[in-house]
Amino acid sequence: MAKDSLTITDNRTNKTYEIPIQYGTYPQYGASIRATDLRQIKNGEEDFGLLSYDPAFGNTASCRSAITFVDGERGILRYRGYPIDQLAEKSSYLEVAYLILHGELPDEQQLKVWVDDITIHTMVHESIKKFLDGFRYDAHPMGVFVGAVGALSTFYPDARGVDDPDCRAIQITRLIAKVPTLAAMAFRHSRGMPYVYPDNDLSLTGNFLNMLWRTAEPKYEPNPVLERALDVLFILHVDHEQNCSANAMRSIGSSRPDPYCALSGAAAALYGPLHGGANEAVLRMLAGIGTRANVNKFVEGVKGGKERLMGFGHRVYKNYDPRARIIKQTADEVFAVTGVNPLLEIALELEQVALKDEYFIERKLYPNVDFYSGIIYQAMGFPVDMFPVLFAIPRTAGWLAQWEELLKDKEQRIARPRQVYDGNDTRDYVEVGKRPPAAS
Ligand code: ACO
Repeated sequence: MAKDSLTITDNRTNKTYEIPIQYGTYPQYGASIRATDLRQIKNGEEDFGLLSYDPAFGNTASCRSAITFVDGERGILRYRGYPIDQLAEKSSYLEVAYLILHGELPDEQQLKVWVDDITIHTMVHESIKKFLDGFRYDAHPMGVFVGAVGALSTFYPDARGVDDPDCRAIQITRLIAKVPTLAAMAFRHSRGMPYVYPDNDLSLTGNFLNMLWRTAEPKYEPNPVLERALDVLFILHVDHEQNCSANAMRSIGSSRPDPYCALSGAAAALYGPLHGGANEAVLRMLAGIGTRANVNKFVEGVKGGKERLMGFGHRVYKNYDPRARIIKQTADEVFAVTGVNPLLEIALELEQVALKDEYFIERKLYPNVDFYSGIIYQAMGFPVDMFPVLFAIPRTAGWLAQWEELLKDKEQRIARPRQVYDGNDTRDYVEVGKRPPAAS
């Protein structure tokens, strides 16, 4: 009879081991073995036991999660079971944030309470202003954002009670409510403009646009198309299971600091050009290419290893990123209001050329979420260095859901990977005067 196990023979010792295969709730979504089961495989009494070596977590599940499902081969993304295209079409960012955090869509009353709660927590302590003033005039808004989110930790010392669900709930509300305010302040600081206080009459994205763009008008009225487009972009960026920044959030969270410090670390992970910083890198790349005529030459440079096609490729998606497809539609709506971003035609040409080229076909490299998002953000008037900050605002909900799940998971402990030691074997200390000269 078929058994759910592996039989492993260690050819060093000729011993045989039986390792159970385990499944999650849905066996069709994959099977795993426990890496610690390999430790019984020893080459003698003194041996530590077999490790699984997996740099960059290429094939290691670090947790069980019920938040987000990604099928990279088929280009599927679902939050709590709901397909991303349905949420993008029918839902709102705050409703999706509730869903991702609580596991279910809110009923009417729950949604109202949630939106009210977020709305009344959008203000930040006045001292944050002084704190932000300390940044240089040309500070990158993402650096400012990372610093400001971390600084919130000092304003809410009660937040260290991470094992108390009520304490977690209030920090979650504060963070989701305050990150747009901090993001807008980071932007206004970089422009030397006075900070704008939140306007509770507006939606989350409407208020965000208000805090970014309001100048002397008594009441800011966001353009409804741009307000909705930003909301859709926020929905698309809420979560993406165990990516670099979610893993950072979980890893930092596992030592039980307050969520402001953990989230600041997650945002720092997002900042890199291989992750959420890619949308910024895409724009710089498109501007560098300059015209459609240069696309072929650029692609040759990518194939020759001189360049990287930013906004293409993904560790998990080996098919068209479903978020990129939705973003392409949103782009048309935005451009109807703002006019077409001239970089769009370079991006479209680049996509066309890359998707037909053997190099990209072979490696299954398709546009990811960042390929078109920056073009929309730029058309909406955002400077390039704000792009990763725009990513961090909605991802805050995802990071917090991952954090909450981690803290509730009885199997999780402080994250502590093993290593395969490759350094010097033991050797004796030599006094400084007695050491041979170092090789230059
Ligand atoms: N341009 C050119 N070649 C690429 C690209 C790219 N964007 N991405 C991958 N490749 C090539 C690699 O050189 C490698 O080729 P090889 O087998 O000849 O060595 C092969 O495809 C496999 O790539 P890896 O780097 O092993 O893939 P990995 O899963 O480690 O990297 C990553 C994924 C970081 C996203 C990568 O595709 C990349 O750098 N893309 C550009 C940056 C980007 O757009 N990041 C955003 C991702 S989405 C997000 O984080 C929100």
